Amino acid sequence: MSKRVIREAKKYISPALVFHSDIVVRKAKGLRVVDEDGRVFMDFTSGLATANLGHSPAEVIEAARKQMDRIVHSGCIFYYESEVDLAKRLKKITPRSIDMFFFSNSGAEAVEGAIKLARFATGRQGILAFMGGFHGRTYGALSLTTSAVKYRKKYHPLLPSVYHAPYPYCYRCPMGQRVESCSIDCIEYLERVFKYQIPPDEVACAVIEPVLGEGGYIAPPKKFIKGLKDICRREDILIVADEVQTGFGRTGRWFASDHFGLDPDIITMAKGIASGFPLSAVGARKSIMSKWTPGAHGTTFGGNPVSCAAACATIDKIEKDAVLGNAQKMGAYALKRLNSLKEKRRAIGDVRGLGLMIGVEFIKKDGAPDRESTERVIKKCLKNGLVLIECGVDKNVIRIMPPLTVTEGEMKKALDIFEEAVV
Ligand SMILES: Cc1ncc(COP(=O)(O)O)c(C=O)c1O
Repeated sequence: MSKRVIREAKKYISPALVFHSDIVVRKAKGLRVVDEDGRVFMDFTSGLATANLGHSPAEVIEAARKQMDRIVHSGCIFYYESEVDLAKRLKKITPRSIDMFFFSNSGAEAVEGAIKLARFATGRQGILAFMGGFHGRTYGALSLTTSAVKYRKKYHPLLPSVYHAPYPYCYRCPMGQRVESCSIDCIEYLERVFKYQIPPDEVACAVIEPVLGEGGYIAPPKKFIKGLKDICRREDILIVADEVQTGFGRTGRWFASDHFGLDPDIITMAKGIASGFPLSAVGARKSIMSKWTPGAHGTTFGGNPVSCAAACATIDKIEKDAVLGNAQKMGAYALKRLNSLKEKRRAIGDVRGLGLMIGVEFIKKDGAPDRESTERVIKKCLKNGLVLIECGVDKNVIRIMPPLTVTEGEMKKALDIFEEAVV
């Protein structure tokens, strides 16, 4: 059965789409995935940081079912309650600065919306982004994405007036500094952009992942975010926090911005928002969102009523079951074990992370990125029933991103498999 589906997928589905495993899923519940041949796996990818409550949480499915009996699609012809309910919930859990929301379908679409809103509200064109960032694959979002060149290859010219500055990847400092003596040269670099490339009063926004996702699971030093905030406030440049991957508890707080005291002007959300139902959102300060005039942006499917009901139930469950606390606890447990594994295994160069967004970086003897070992470990884990994926420009970082509801027993079992796979 599995072989047939894979054969037909290769025949009918575009080769551009990469599947990360050879699993043909029959059923997924929580972090347990059963394939068509009866093999059982633990999904430590959360369906790409999306099934934050595990696959198909009962309360979310029930809320979606109830909504399906009322209305499935509105197309902006009708108002409906689930969208407003969701906006009210988001107002409570997003950073204090965020007041109003525009709903769409995917992360990339939210980033497109954020760029358009920033340009529209400021009347400025320039956009700052950071090297290693992933913001999606549609043209506007892609123009910001630099997590790997393959995403951009053969697609130029991209959106003009996008300027990239280094992201503080301190394990391999892009500015050649040492962590102990660093004076955040990555921020100083922005001053150079303003001096040589675009004056700050022509820059609409700086778009940043508060923790780098696809680019390598890298949390920046707090002083970097403070420096960025200071420069942006000084020059009236809007800060857009791309929280598509980091949002909804992934880092142990509702949003990664919360770790840094970052009050973004605009925020983008998707992935974990609705436990796998397609939905994304741009949130913004009222003073910014209210500048977006009627018809300046729009959507047919965005803010689907069923997805909104699923998102409300997702947020309620995260609150009711104290899921953020569990993510912090399980994240700390995993970090401790992985750090002690690092002491024993030369192949592990760095272990880092916030909450359940943990990266394990593999290196060769000379410290160079080790993609082969990374692949080997992932394959071995898969053979033993643990699904993991990699990230980073050199594909040498394994992401540990289980559902935030993972139990200590499940985490222990997964780390046992991981430890055995690392030689
Ligand atoms: C930070 C970030 N922004 C945007 C996106 C794009 O989201 P989507 O794949 O839903 O378009 C992603 C996807 O991984 C992401 O991690």
